[in-house]
Amino acid sequence: MAFESKIRPITWENGVSKMLDQTVIPYEYKYVEISSGDEMFNAIRNMIVRGAPAIGIAGAQGIVLYAKEGANKFTNREEFINWLLEKADYMATSRPTAVNLMWACDEQKKVIKNSKSDINGLIEELTTKAIEIEQDDIDRCKKMGDYGAEVVPKGATILTHCNAGALATGGYGTALGVVRSAFAKDNTIQVFADETRPRQQGARLTTFELAMDGIPVTLITDGMCSYFMSKGMIDMVVVGADRIAANGDTANKIGTYTVAIAAKYHNIPFYVAAPLSTIDISIASGKEIPIEERNREEVTHINGKIICAESGVNIINPGFDVTPNELITGIITEKGIIRPDYKDSIKNLFMIR
Ligand code: MRU
Repeated sequence: MAFESKIRPITWENGVSKMLDQTVIPYEYKYVEISSGDEMFNAIRNMIVRGAPAIGIAGAQGIVLYAKEGANKFTNREEFINWLLEKADYMATSRPTAVNLMWACDEQKKVIKNSKSDINGLIEELTTKAIEIEQDDIDRCKKMGDYGAEVVPKGATILTHCNAGALATGGYGTALGVVRSAFAKDNTIQVFADETRPRQQGARLTTFELAMDGIPVTLITDGMCSYFMSKGMIDMVVVGADRIAANGDTANKIGTYTVAIAAKYHNIPFYVAAPLSTIDISIASGKEIPIEERNREEVTHINGKIICAESGVNIINPGFDVTPNELITGIITEKGIIRPDYKDSIKNLFMIR
């Protein structure tokens, strides 16, 4: 059962991309128009759009924008195609960890390589694919939500980390999609949202979208989760994912691993919710997942104000960590919930795809 969100973080309208600027939420709620491929590259890199499935949708749209620019540059179809394939590879490098971006750029590359149309026809085909990727994501998230809702106990308090909601997807959410579907069945459930330093996606985005949809949410800081677990106040954890290796090791926002260890210690189920496009079967384990290193100001500053000594301090700012598969109770996908041994269950999942 679906509980629709009012949020559409990214859409395609009249030949341009319209996206909610996620860097200014909750202070402002404004859409920006992205009308060139380079603008899209920067919007992804600077996190105007963020969240694994949402940046996949953005990447697919960015390739349409490049194609439209290329149509003004080239008359020769072959030169156009070679240039566009290079641009698609470039778009895939706008952020390194979430594999949905590479997946969506690959989907567009398949369209380019398989097309028999002229340049304008190919642009049409790429547009259709980008819209399909967006629509498809919402459908997949709703399916995931319904499977996930089955393992949410009545009246549960669900802890989540970062933002894996409508804002991070086509408009329903992976982890928060599970919350939405569970809430549609049982409106006594509630969410505890970790703040998620350094960029505070939990505080800024998760509380914002849940409050907007009327789902009860309590904000806690990252260090508080074990305390609430020890008090028996958390029934389960559901997080999203940026990349899942073939053995189930899962990269998600920095801090997720700490939550998973705390959940294991307290015997609390820890679920990951992610579409198949987040599973990277080309890598055997989480050791191979590239971890984005972001700029130091995210750690040293809050709202433009420095929060540490101005000099003499070393800063390291990895954007993601990898939760080892043995800490994960189940992975909720659009094809059902898979459980350990993940090597086998992921292989089977892709066989029935
Ligand atoms: O750096 P971000 O904000 O793009 O990171 C987002 C996350 O880590 C999400 O939890 C993940 O992408 C899952 S989104 C459905």
